[in-house]
Amino acid sequence: MRAVDLIRKKRDGGEHSRPEIEFLISSYTRGDLPDYQMAAWLMASWLRGLGGAEIAFLTETMLHSGEVLEHASIPGKKVDKHSTGGVGDKTSLILAPIVAAGGLTVPMISGRGLGHTGGTLDKLESIPGFNTALSLPEFRRVLAACGMGLIGQTAEIAPADKKIYALRDATATVESIGLICASIMSKKMAEGIDALVLDVKTGSGAFMKREEDAVQLAEVMADTGRRMGKKVVALITDMSQPLGRMAGHSNEVVESLEVLRGGGPADLRDLSIELSAWMFFLGEATRSVAQGRALAQEMISSGAATAKFRQSIELQGGDPRVVENPKLLPQARTRVDVPSPAAGFITATNCEQLGIALAILGGGRAKKEDHIDAGVGLEFHLRIGDRVASGQPLATIHYNADAKLDEAHTMITESYEIGAQPPPELPPLIRRVIQPGS
Ligand code: URA
Repeated sequence: MRAVDLIRKKRDGGEHSRPEIEFLISSYTRGDLPDYQMAAWLMASWLRGLGGAEIAFLTETMLHSGEVLEHASIPGKKVDKHSTGGVGDKTSLILAPIVAAGGLTVPMISGRGLGHTGGTLDKLESIPGFNTALSLPEFRRVLAACGMGLIGQTAEIAPADKKIYALRDATATVESIGLICASIMSKKMAEGIDALVLDVKTGSGAFMKREEDAVQLAEVMADTGRRMGKKVVALITDMSQPLGRMAGHSNEVVESLEVLRGGGPADLRDLSIELSAWMFFLGEATRSVAQGRALAQEMISSGAATAKFRQSIELQGGDPRVVENPKLLPQARTRVDVPSPAAGFITATNCEQLGIALAILGGGRAKKEDHIDAGVGLEFHLRIGDRVASGQPLATIHYNADAKLDEAHTMITESYEIGAQPPPELPPLIRRVIQPGS
């Protein structure tokens, strides 16, 4: 088999067999297929789409590119959550400690920033010393000690996704149902979990801008998980504006700590509780989602979730003092407000563009090798439906270098739609829940 023939086949709309997919993925993971050929195949797949059988072959091949974990020595259920990604989406940092504090085990394998969206690993690495590249024995030790472990794909676990994910980020090949399903489900099925909650985003800041595409993605991923014997529920949630008030790596750790302490913005708090509640329910820690919500609240108000996060930071080599003193996180040197050009009401945001503005300030990668500036960030002051006066700050930019400031400033101003009337309805935070039989 030759990669060039398979690239041509997909370019011309052909359908791959299992051996063809296995050839592409295993040669790329081994380092025998160069980036340029994988990038060409990814773009052909993005443009032509992958059929149901191809998605299943791809997910299984990527899953078995590394070890599939099992945690028989750790008692109780293992559960996880994965989001398809958005701007300011930091719920993993909140719900992992809530759910671990509530008695379940959360063996979470996450990703880095992808496209205009931020990544859990990059956010965690803003905590000085935090190691997201634990070896397998270290990961097991951390999980056994505190019930949660937060790592990335490694040479041992989901190595195919580790390489392909970084390549997709830099080649505009992210927004594809087949590629997203294989990426997410290959990582999640390698974790050794019993149950998974999927947070599938929709709206201007999501990869799936239209709700019907988000639903299709959710169904494909949920079917994949259930075929592999896992309990899976998918929530279709809003990403038509940033989640919470903060985007950027240090900023998002700070805001997550606020929610863990019982504060923080309502949308972020509500979504974190809802996702935790589903994890408790699927993991059989509670008999209903409503009881799961109550348990999540209790873990916050008792301080157990914050203590759990502190413990996990310490066990993964990070400086736990950031919990009490967030100023130990990297900080941007300068701040500048972005004033509203008009008076009226916020009727919509171009949330993807807000994510790109953050990336060009240094908060994202344009190439695989780029370094992230964890201190830069955006602070959003207004939400869809809010009244705004001319000159009132829409957002505040936290930045370190002037070079891209004007470009980012203009992008942010242009990301807000301002009308004379408020929008007829506000976007609901949770649009649908997709569970077996629904
Ligand atoms: N999250 C992932 O892990 N992979 C994707 O492709 C998109 C979101």
